[in-house]
Amino acid sequence: MTASETVLPTGEFYDPVMDRYSKKSHLRWILSHVLVHKKMLLLFFLAATISAAIGTITPLLMGDLINEIIADNSSWNVIQRLAYIILILTISGGIASFGSSLIIEIMSQKVERNIRNEYYASMLSKSMTFHDEVKQGDVMARATFDTRMVNFFVNPVIHLLYAAIFGVLFSIIGMFIITPYWNNMPVLLLMPLLITFPIAFFARRFYKSVGPISMQIQESYSTLSSYLQEKLLGISVIKTFAREPFERVSFREKNTKLSKEIITRGKLRSKYYPALFVGIGVGATIVWGSLLIDWGVGAGQFGIGELVAYSMLAGNLFFPIWVMSWMLVLIQMGFAGASRITDILTKKTIIPAPVNPTDLSIIKGDIDFNNVSFSYDGNVFVIKDVSFSIPSGSRVAIVGPAGCGKTTLMKLLTRLYDVSSGSVNIDGVDIRNLSLETIRRNIGVIEQEIVLFSASISDNISYGKPDATEEEIIEASKMAQAHEFVIKFDKGYKTIVGERGTTLSGGQKQRIAIARMLLADPTVLVFDDASSAVDSETEDKINTAINRVLKDRTSFIITHRLSTIRHSDIIIVLKQGTIKAIGIHDQLLKESVDYWRVFARFSEIRKMMPEQMISEMESGE
Ligand SMILES: Nc1ncnc2c1ncn2[C@@H]1O[C@H](COP(=O)(O)OP(=O)(O)O)[C@@H](O)[C@H]1O
Ligand SMILES: [Mg+2]
Repeated sequence: MTASETVLPTGEFYDPVMDRYSKKSHLRWILSHVLVHKKMLLLFFLAATISAAIGTITPLLMGDLINEIIADNSSWNVIQRLAYIILILTISGGIASFGSSLIIEIMSQKVERNIRNEYYASMLSKSMTFHDEVKQGDVMARATFDTRMVNFFVNPVIHLLYAAIFGVLFSIIGMFIITPYWNNMPVLLLMPLLITFPIAFFARRFYKSVGPISMQIQESYSTLSSYLQEKLLGISVIKTFAREPFERVSFREKNTKLSKEIITRGKLRSKYYPALFVGIGVGATIVWGSLLIDWGVGAGQFGIGELVAYSMLAGNLFFPIWVMSWMLVLIQMGFAGASRITDILTKKTIIPAPVNPTDLSIIKGDIDFNNVSFSYDGNVFVIKDVSFSIPSGSRVAIVGPAGCGKTTLMKLLTRLYDVSSGSVNIDGVDIRNLSLETIRRNIGVIEQEIVLFSASISDNISYGKPDATEEEIIEASKMAQAHEFVIKFDKGYKTIVGERGTTLSGGQKQRIAIARMLLADPTVLVFDDASSAVDSETEDKINTAINRVLKDRTSFIITHRLSTIRHSDIIIVLKQGTIKAIGIHDQLLKESVDYWRVFARFSEIRKMMPEQMISEMESGE
């Protein structure tokens, strides 16, 4: 197993990239991924060198062959031997070239795979703050499109770069070999060198014009994919407001922009069509060579055979020079991709894991909040100086108007976010001294917006306990009052729920989530109840399910259900991030206007409200 394939221990939320690459350049980051495959790299170099060498030897032998054929005293034996050698070399060259391409292709795929793995591992380790801030579509584009860009850096960049450097080197050596004792060597090299300049000039222009548009295309792809992602997530809103025509046009515009950019690049690319330049170069070289023969320069040493070898080598010389320009574009794109990936990888938004976590493998479930304040953006405080102490096994209800911070308070308990000041303690230990795994395994949350994965119902239920048996799954499902509706589906527990559980109703999703929680069997339970909008039969079922789930556990329920609240051991009344009252039902009825406000919509309760409370409530706001 290579370094980049190291499996992170579950629950260890440290960021591998932060550790390894934070101070390094993109190039070094890419190279660190390439150099993992040292053996393949060596094999590639070997194959590519052989292929380049054969590419130089073959023209030389061709020259000899032609010389032999046109010689006055030509020997059939020599011709035959040369022909065989050329044949064998051509075949071996082909194999070496095929081998080097294959090796580099495999290697580039491995690099791309490892980068994606690293990227995903990093996404998993990022804090909620990070995920709140980034655009999902953008994060996805980086995982797909930009990793491809980085891959270009290996294939074809490393491949062609190596072939180019050795191609040029060997061609020049080859040209020297053609005329070893010839005093007029500089004359021979004159034309190829002269031709190199215009080719290099156009290559540079190509790079300057195609480079920027390629970067733009990369950016546009990413924009388009994040746009698509966001719109698909909100498809029901688009339909509800009948905005399809607008969205169609708006997408079309973005899409057209991208395709125009790609066409522009295509035009530029064909304007500087490489074969043309290489062809002109080779042609000019041949003309130059024949002129030299005609003028009698180097007579006796530079004949027809040498001319053939010479022009073939010139082709080997010009092509790499041209290819370099395209390489530069790809290198630029690879770097841009790398920079977009490492940008995200190195974002410092991880929840720091304690170095020596306190060992609390079994949690009792005492929960303390000590002067906890919290702000999402470091500016507006949504939790202000909240303190309370809950003995294990208690059933706690958290009530208060929408937006008062109920959900946030529970996110602090599970350390999805870190408190801005104060502390949250479990069994007397600050949760920042517990491993995240300990916290998350011991505190189960049924979220306000239930998320199911697009997998079978049974896989969703066993998500927190992957080794659960079928009996256990059904048992949990029965407890959660889900069994009854699940078996009504044609495929029962094998039914695949749509992405995010779209094919289930709110009440059904909630009961699947309760079953999922039951199987995971946490010590502390948080139930963030959003669905006050279910029918009374479903509500009864959910109540039954909750009551079973809550038994013997420290539990926090965020709810408006009177029956649930009334039977709680402790009720916390929140308003604008502060605790307005805390106590039991009967006591709060006597003391707290804010508590009454929670139920004010029930007219029968309103009738019971003491005179003085009503006037206080009405003058309040
Ligand atoms: N991820 C977030 N980023 C920034 N602000 C948030 C975020 N989530 C909630 N808020 C804000 O924090 C406040 C409390 O929200 P929340 O805890 O969800 O309230 P409740 O659950 O009581 O309805 C609200 O003003 C809300 O706008
Ligand atoms: Mg909420």
